[in-house]
Amino acid sequence: MESTLQALLGHHAAAVCCSTADGDPAMLTPEEYAAVSGAIAHRQKEFAAGRSAARHAMRRLGRPGVTLPADPDRSPRWPPDLVGSISHSKTTCIAIVALREHRQSVGVDVEPDRDLPRDLWDLICRPDELQRLADLPEAERARWVTRVFCAKEAYYKWVYPQIRALLDFQDVAIEMAPTLDDTRFVARPFRQDARESTPPGLAGTITTTQDMVVSLVIH
Ligand SMILES: CC(C)(COP(=O)(O)OP(=O)(O)OC[C@H]1O[C@@H](n2cnc3c(N)ncnc32)[C@H](O)[C@@H]1OP(=O)(O)O)[C@@H](O)C(=O)NCCC(=O)NCCS
Repeated sequence: MESTLQALLGHHAAAVCCSTADGDPAMLTPEEYAAVSGAIAHRQKEFAAGRSAARHAMRRLGRPGVTLPADPDRSPRWPPDLVGSISHSKTTCIAIVALREHRQSVGVDVEPDRDLPRDLWDLICRPDELQRLADLPEAERARWVTRVFCAKEAYYKWVYPQIRALLDFQDVAIEMAPTLDDTRFVARPFRQDARESTPPGLAGTITTTQDMVVSLVIH
């Protein structure tokens, strides 16, 4: 998975993947640990896995692997010269870090490649996205909605550091072919603050590997 993501990133950015179970809270700096000191063991592990992966990625870019505190809204506070994004599933953790002089922002999301429950489709998808479902065999529709969800989460993480505001799933449209194969998508926000920070036709990618769906937005 790591080499697939690295190939998508190109220069000036690094991808590091690790097992969420390998996260070791003892490796957190005191500043980082403060964010999860009251959390259950699994949450501490996933948080630690993300910090460890992020530090590896920083070092790959030739930067020191520094502390990465969490803001009160949970977003990581990246060093001034870096942008980045973290995602974890029960099993897999991904950190993407890029040099700020070359990239505006990064967003990544990982989800198990499985059906998204039917009762959530109307919440996640806009009417135009639901229409595209008609082009898919019925048995594939719920997994396509998982890809739409995953793309929206990555776009949200991409835009959040610039707008510092919560977006609703209906605030962004994902234009993506009706396919379960690896593909590209375009994220189009409808809210004014997000539109002002987002270049027209902001592209992202969906990659499927090891029963996981990974969405990536980097620009
Ligand atoms: C943050 C969020 C997008 C994903 O969180 P999640 O379901 O726990 O899934 P992930 O593991 O993929 O991502 C969590 C990581 O994202 C990062 N993160 C959290 N809030 C963030 C934010 N506002 N902006 C950017 N990154 C953020 C953190 O690194 C976090 O991991 P950590 O707490 O261990 O450091 C989601 O929980 C959330 O806040 N959603 C509300 C907004 C939304 O989804 N809108 C619809 C999309 S348009």
